[in-house]
Amino acid sequence: MALEVLVPGGSGQLGRDLAASEGEDVKVYAPSSAELDVTQAGAIVTAVSDLVARAKAAGAKPVVINASAYTAVDAAETDEGRAFAINVDGPRMLAAVCSSRGVPLIHVSTDYVFAGDASKPYEPADPVGPKTAYGRTKAAGEDAVLGSGAQAWVVRTAWVYGKTGKNFVKTMIRLEGERETLSVVDDQHGSPTWSADLAAGLLELAGQVVDGRGPAQRILHCTGGGATTWCRFTRAIFTELGADPARVNPCTTADYPSPTPRPAYSVLSNASWADAGLTPLRSWEDALRAYFAGE
Ligand SMILES: NC(=O)c1ccc[n+]([C@@H]2O[C@H](COP(=O)([O-])OP(=O)(O)OC[C@H]3O[C@@H](n4cnc5c(N)ncnc54)[C@H](OP(=O)(O)O)[C@@H]3O)[C@@H](O)[C@H]2O)c1
Repeated sequence: MALEVLVPGGSGQLGRDLAASEGEDVKVYAPSSAELDVTQAGAIVTAVSDLVARAKAAGAKPVVINASAYTAVDAAETDEGRAFAINVDGPRMLAAVCSSRGVPLIHVSTDYVFAGDASKPYEPADPVGPKTAYGRTKAAGEDAVLGSGAQAWVVRTAWVYGKTGKNFVKTMIRLEGERETLSVVDDQHGSPTWSADLAAGLLELAGQVVDGRGPAQRILHCTGGGATTWCRFTRAIFTELGADPARVNPCTTADYPSPTPRPAYSVLSNASWADAGLTPLRSWEDALRAYFAGE
C-alpha cells in the first residue's frame, strides 16, 4: 500500500533522511519547525488535515512520523519549559489530532528516558528513570502519546548521527583535522545509529501500521546493531578517515565532567524490533563504513 507520510522535524538529521527515503510508493512531506511548529495546535490541525487530503487524493494511507524534538541536552537543563513544550505538549497535540483523524503516529524517543546505570541492554518495559531535563521531557512525551488514544507507537533510539546537523561523528571528523591526539570517554556504552538506517526502519514500521499490522507492543527499541564506547567509536571513525586510531586515547567520565550527566550505559535491546517482524538495523560498524563510503 502506498504511504503518504508527514514528518514534523523534517529539517533535523532524522527528518532529512526520512525525506530522502521518498520513493514511488512513499511520499514524504518533511516540514521544518518554521513550516510546522509542533507547539502550535492550529498548525498541527492544518498539517494533519492536509496529510489526510493528500493521501486521499493519491489513494495512499496517511501516517505521521514525529522526528521533531528539543534535542539540546545541556541547554534543556536551563530551558526545561521550552523542552517540555516541544517534547511533551507538541507530541500530545499531534497525537490528539492524529487520533481524531484516525491517522497512525510513530513517535521517536530516546535512551535518555532510562537512568543509564544498567548492566544489560534495556528492554522497552524496563522502568524509566531519566536523569536529565531532556530525558524527563522525552519520557513525559512518550506517556502523552501513548495515553492519547491514538494508534501510536514509540520508537526509542540512541547515539544518532547523520550527514547533516550537529552530531558526534561530524565533531570527530573536525577534531581529527585539528588535533594530534584526542581523549575520549571509554566508560559510556551505547549503540551508534545512522539516521539513514533508522529512517528505513521507521518506514518499514509505518508500512506495517497503515496496513493494520502494527505491533501489539507499543514501545519498540531500534538502534544500530552491537554496542561500543565513545572512545572505540572514535577509533573506528579515525580508521574510516585513514587516520591512526592510536591517536585516540581512552579517558573516564570523571576526567571529562559534563554540565549534564551522561548515561554510563545506553544500550537498548533490539529484540522488540525483531519480534515485531521488523528488519534489525545492520551492525554499527557496517553502518559507519557505509556512511563513509557515501552510500
Ligand atoms: N540525536 C541523537 O543522538 C538522538 C538519540 C536518541 C534519540 N533521538 C531522538 O531522535 C529524534 C530525531 O532527532 P535528531 O537527531 O534528528 O534531532 P535534530 O537533528 O536536533 O532535529 C530536531 C528537529 O526538531 C525540530 N524542531 C525543534 N523545535 C520544533 C518545533 N517547535 N516544532 C517542530 N519542529 C521542531 C528541529 O527543527 P528546526 O531545526 O527547524 O528548528 C529539527 O528539525 C528526536 O526525537 C530525538 O529525541 C536522537
